[in-house]
Parts: sequence; structure tokens; C-alpha cells
Amino acid sequence: MRKNIVAGNWKMHKNNSETVALLQDIIAKNGTPNCEVVVAPTFVNLKTAVDTVNGKNITVAAQNMHQAEGGAYTGEIAASMLTDIGVNTVILGHSERRAYFHETDALLANKVDTALKHEMRVIFCFGEELKDRQKENHFNVVEYQLRDGLFHLEKKDWKCIVLAYEPVWAIGTGETASPEQAQEMHQFIRELIAKVYGSDVADNVSILYGGSVKPDNAKEIFSKPDVDGGLIGGAALKADDFLAIVNAM
Ligand code: G3H
Repeated sequence: MRKNIVAGNWKMHKNNSETVALLQDIIAKNGTPNCEVVVAPTFVNLKTAVDTVNGKNITVAAQNMHQAEGGAYTGEIAASMLTDIGVNTVILGHSERRAYFHETDALLANKVDTALKHEMRVIFCFGEELKDRQKENHFNVVEYQLRDGLFHLEKKDWKCIVLAYEPVWAIGTGETASPEQAQEMHQFIRELIAKVYGSDVADNVSILYGGSVKPDNAKEIFSKPDVDGGLIGGAALKADDFLAIVNAM
């Protein structure tokens, strides 16, 4: 049975004291959600976040990591540094990493391998740009992002993979995929995984939707059968909005 997950990607927002304040607010107002709650603050605030959520049923994730075990990579963070402070989930392949930091599918495949070697769980992001959808090429783009980033994995590895479909045109734009568009793509993804890995893998992998999910549209998007939760950007920065989305699950 696959898990429902609502994850907040805080991107480059919130300093240390703001991280504590937002987490304390989330903890105070969080009831008994029908899903796993994940938060992904910036690297410098991860340890603080781990300490703050201690024992509160909130998972802390990193927004990125380097593929190497360590070495002369100025400014980078290794998987072992994350697990050492209790961070065992990492977001990889976010469209902002792909667009602004030139992360390719091949690089992401390496990062995924490193994360799995360290027994981390990966929230793997992918999604088409507006021009792909306008050319009706969105299914192809998504298929190749998955093939090149993940389909080298063995069947057993999939227990550590969560997928996050994020159409780039819907990220931070206020424009969201309709619940039908989200469902159509999530169903396509699940069928593709079933073809390659079998229906046991496909049925058990959580597929999150990301892209302008807000308290007022979350319920309808999450009601679709192949949508197992969301990866939330802007609306994850306020406890009330984030928890409204969590409670829509
Ligand atoms: O990682 C989250 C996504 O980029 C969605 O961001 O909710 O601000 O559109 P958004």
C-alpha cells in the first residue's frame, strides 16, 4: 500500500530563527494527519530542524546533495553529512536545480545512486516545460526524464523512491495543472512504471503533484486516484496554509 505524503520545499527561504518558528507553529497546530508530513529547509538549517521536530512525526528532508562521497567540491554537501545529522530523505531533480544549476538526467542518475547507497529516500522531481505541453510532447519528456534518471534502478530500489511530478509552467506561477491534467499524467507515469517494473512496483510508488498547490485547490487535486500527495513550495512557508494542504490529503 503506497503512502500519502505532503512535503514542503522551503527553497531558499527562512533563516535559522524563522525555521524554528515555522516548525514550532506547524508542530503546535498539526493534528493527526492522514499522510506523512515532510519539510525541506535549507542546508544550514537542517540540523536545527531535525532537533526541533524530534519525536513529532515530521520528516526533515534536504533539497539537494552532491553525488560524490566527499572531496574537493567547494560548497557542496555529501550524503553521509546528511545522514549523520539524521536527514534520510533528499529531494533530487527539482526543476530549479535542472534549470539554474544545469543538472542533467545523467547527473541525477548518479545522485540517486549515491543516495540509495546511503539508504536515503529520494523524492525525485521531473516535469515538462510549457513549450513541451504546447507541442503535446509532455508525455515523452516525462518518460525520458524517468528513463534516464531512474530506470537503471533495480526493482528492489523502488521502495526508496518517491516521485514528484511538477510541470515547470505551474511552479510558482499561480497556474496549476487541473486535477484532470495531474491525474492524466500520474496515471501515465504509473502505467509506464508497471510496464518496466511490474504492477507491484507501480502500485506501491507514491506520486506527488507539485506546482502552485494551495489550500483552496489541494483537496480536488489530492482526490484523484493516482495523486498520492503534494510537493508544496510557496504555500509551505506559512503553517496555516501548509497544514490546510496537509489536512486536504
Ligand atoms: O517544490 C515545490 C514546487 O516547486 C512547487 O512550488 O508551490 O511555489 O508552485 P510552488
